[in-house]
Amino acid sequence: MADKLTIVDIKGMKAAGEKITMLTAYDAGFARMLAAAGIDILLVGDSLGMVVLGYDSTVPVTMNEMLHHAGAVRRGAPDSFVVGDMPFMSYQCAIPSAIRNAGRFMKEAGCDAVKLEGGLEVCETVTAIERAGIPVMGHIGLTPQTAGKLGGYKVQGRDLDSARRLLGMARGLEEAGAFALVLECIPAGLAALISEQLTIPTIGIGAGVGCDGQVLVTHDLLGMFEKFVPSFVKSYVNLAPQIRDAVQEYRHEVREGRYPDASHSFKMSLPVEDILG
Ligand code: KIV
Repeated sequence: MADKLTIVDIKGMKAAGEKITMLTAYDAGFARMLAAAGIDILLVGDSLGMVVLGYDSTVPVTMNEMLHHAGAVRRGAPDSFVVGDMPFMSYQCAIPSAIRNAGRFMKEAGCDAVKLEGGLEVCETVTAIERAGIPVMGHIGLTPQTAGKLGGYKVQGRDLDSARRLLGMARGLEEAGAFALVLECIPAGLAALISEQLTIPTIGIGAGVGCDGQVLVTHDLLGMFEKFVPSFVKSYVNLAPQIRDAVQEYRHEVREGRYPDASHSFKMSLPVEDILG
């Protein structure tokens, strides 16, 4: 097994022109499979609120829910670089509580880094967390925790003002000490320009091929989350219908008495009379 990646390795991948792969993981089983497939970074995204907890957005997700899932991911993939996503209101209230919550991801769940959403308004917080010894990944563009403020789940940076603002945010976050930056839903040309301008790696989602790496929600890649599929998603397999078919077949076989058959049963070696006494 390859050695666990470090921040230095991740930054070095950009310098070497080697694309970084990141996927979301929310439990031990998936974490194990993604690690075995060679994914560089596992993100315990707050998207778990929608994907596995059934919320309508990422806003209700709590620290305890994130830690519960992050711990499972760590146990499933002990040698992977795991990033814990700081949920809404875990870093916005005050810098000391942001540091404490970021620290919980490392101490209680074994994460290697945290991710938080926002631009210039979070730079001071990023610096404080980083100085406390916790690597921070930034996230700009479409930031789902504050999608309402952005006018919904929309592409960002289409006009000159907002494109310049995004470039300013990216530079600010790099200067603040972020080791990498997620660029979500921004035009491909702008994402490529931001990637060129930074020394830290950018990881795109809906941001074109010019980023230094890519991230997707694993359930989207596998065709397992049917409620909403963004247009930038490529589903490499469509598992939801296959899961439904398999479950229906199980239900049918159980009702028909065809499952379990002898091959899925344990033979009894005791005489019935002995058991009945
Ligand atoms: O929560 C999440 O899964 C994310 C990624 C999609 C970047 O933030």
